[in-house]
Amino acid sequence: MKLSPRLAAIVEMLDLPTKVADIGTDHAYLPIYLAQNTDCPTIIASDAKEKPYQFALQNVKQMGLAKQIDVRLGSGLSVLNGGEVETVITAGMGSQTMQDIIAADYELAQKLDRLILQPMAGATSLRKWLVNNNFEIIDESLVKDEHIYQIIVIEPGNMEFDDQFLLELGPILIEKREPLWEEYTTELLNKWERIREEIIKNNPGHKKSKNLERKIKKLKEIKGIKK
Ligand SMILES: C[S@@+](CC[C@H](N)C(=O)[O-])C[C@H]1O[C@@H](n2cnc3c(N)ncnc32)[C@H](O)[C@@H]1O
Repeated sequence: MKLSPRLAAIVEMLDLPTKVADIGTDHAYLPIYLAQNTDCPTIIASDAKEKPYQFALQNVKQMGLAKQIDVRLGSGLSVLNGGEVETVITAGMGSQTMQDIIAADYELAQKLDRLILQPMAGATSLRKWLVNNNFEIIDESLVKDEHIYQIIVIEPGNMEFDDQFLLELGPILIEKREPLWEEYTTELLNKWERIREEIIKNNPGHKKSKNLERKIKKLKEIKGIKK
């Protein structure tokens, strides 16, 4: 099984081997890769919807991996028994869905060693929610597939930020400055500048434009842009 760059980058963030569940697995590509290439002692692949669940079942059977991968139907972490896995992956969903999944089984989530989250959008609001709900961001990464995606690795714990702006960009992404950092932050800067110009055109003096101005200034400082 050859993984897409996005799924391969998620595998890179795992502390292997581990007892793992891929929640929202769709075709079970990631669990199949883990079963074929790692010594993970437990691999659970689950999906909330019947069709992707059937795709996952079929693919797992076709690959002869039914003994290694337990395919389950159900929403979020409700398919898991406490203590059954150490690591949970949720990838390819919106950040609100990920928040809902964690919130719905919060006690179980708080007993996991680690969660690897790869939201398709809304990484900033997800980070803010996680930090406000007793999770610690322990690693982050960027990957370019069709777009640049963010991967956020969390553990139960606490972390405090004097400057909430760090959560906009990713506190560890700022430190790591991976090769995609320039492209990621330039895209963001251009987006914020475009939105700000639109606001100024339609409603000069609106407080949203002041807010964006502050964010643009901070981002430029972090990027080392002088003016
Ligand atoms: C776009 S696919 C992503 C598949 C794979 N994780 C990936 O990253 O390529 C999103 C999958 O999440 C599933 N999903 C959405 N909400 C879910 C939930 N609450 N619990 C489990 N699966 C969910 C959908 O049915 C769908 O199959």
